[in-house]
Amino acid sequence: MKHEEILAWIKEDGPAKLEELWARADEVRRLRVGDAVHLRGLLEISNNCVRHCGYCGVSLNNPNLTRYRMTGQDIMACVRQAETLGYGTVVLQAGEDYGLTREFIAALVRDITSQTPLAVTLSLGERPEADLEAWREAGASRYLLRFETSDPDLYGRIHPSLPGRPSDRLALLARLRELGYETGSGVMIGIPGQTYESLARDIQLFGELDLDMIGVGPFIAHPHTPMGKSAWTAPPGEQVPATEDMTYKVLALSRLVCPEANIPATTALATLNRASGREQGLRRGANVIMPNLTPPQYRVLYDIYPSKACIHETAVECGDCLRQRIEALGRTVALGPGSRSRRQSGTEAEFGETPTP
Ligand code: 5AD
Ligand code: FES
Repeated sequence: MKHEEILAWIKEDGPAKLEELWARADEVRRLRVGDAVHLRGLLEISNNCVRHCGYCGVSLNNPNLTRYRMTGQDIMACVRQAETLGYGTVVLQAGEDYGLTREFIAALVRDITSQTPLAVTLSLGERPEADLEAWREAGASRYLLRFETSDPDLYGRIHPSLPGRPSDRLALLARLRELGYETGSGVMIGIPGQTYESLARDIQLFGELDLDMIGVGPFIAHPHTPMGKSAWTAPPGEQVPATEDMTYKVLALSRLVCPEANIPATTALATLNRASGREQGLRRGANVIMPNLTPPQYRVLYDIYPSKACIHETAVECGDCLRQRIEALGRTVALGPGSRSRRQSGTEAEFGETPTP
């Protein structure tokens, strides 16, 4: 899809036109990845982090947070619960925490893949290549690393580098792909300073990177972060709003530029609309939900943004609730790990003209 088309869609506010976009994304989703919804159990294994990302409540900037790191035993107990709940994948997510050593994660991945049928997705930040290699070798099959924005100025402003280590997530994404990981990325929507032009380029880049997984969600200001406190925005008329509708537009366009990708209706979206955010996401391009498996006492401490949905529910309550919601939409819950299928190659062009706003 051309830049101008993407740009016109993210600026479109006409309800009838937007219905066209939702329908198109839903149709491409149905044809390319089917009606089954994959459940990926999310396990937030540590809230320690060495980075200073300006938007994130668990960054090193926040001194007001009790830090935790789950033990291998605790993690394996939750993994077994994921298996019992019928999930096909477990996602191990954390801040960039070097207390989670290369060896610890490699052993954990080996245990999970040898003792359960679950696929392992890692989301552990910008780790050195040797770590990523060791974990791939241990059996991890997917890695999530959002690039957050393709605008170099904005990227630099929100991601201060560590001394001697520039933050270059695009280079790391290329390396993850070379290592044979299914690679996921994405952006926040409505970051202060994010323009329509730059968001359109982000979406185009999803297609150029041919991402296997795409995670997008609204920016939610956290009061204990520099970006949560600042009143900074792009010039009038250029700032992308961090709204529910903008999130659906980006979800739908992500589906059109990467027809076969696995795309979750994210928790951040559910946080903007608890009643039906996830359901609407599933009807506008998404095919994945990530129920939270983190034990509730840790979940409240994984405070990347405020008022997160499903913070107090147990894993069982959350799993039951999501299953009911999926079935109420006339969709099914997928069985098995649900890797990206590359059987059908091709692009949006196969489905005829993409509607233009
Ligand atoms: N609002 C919304 N999403 C956020 N993330 C981090 N901080 C926030 C926030 N304040 C998202 C980032 C990160 C993912 C794990 O959570 O996109 O990559
Ligand atoms: Fe988690 Fe409903 S989706 S409790």
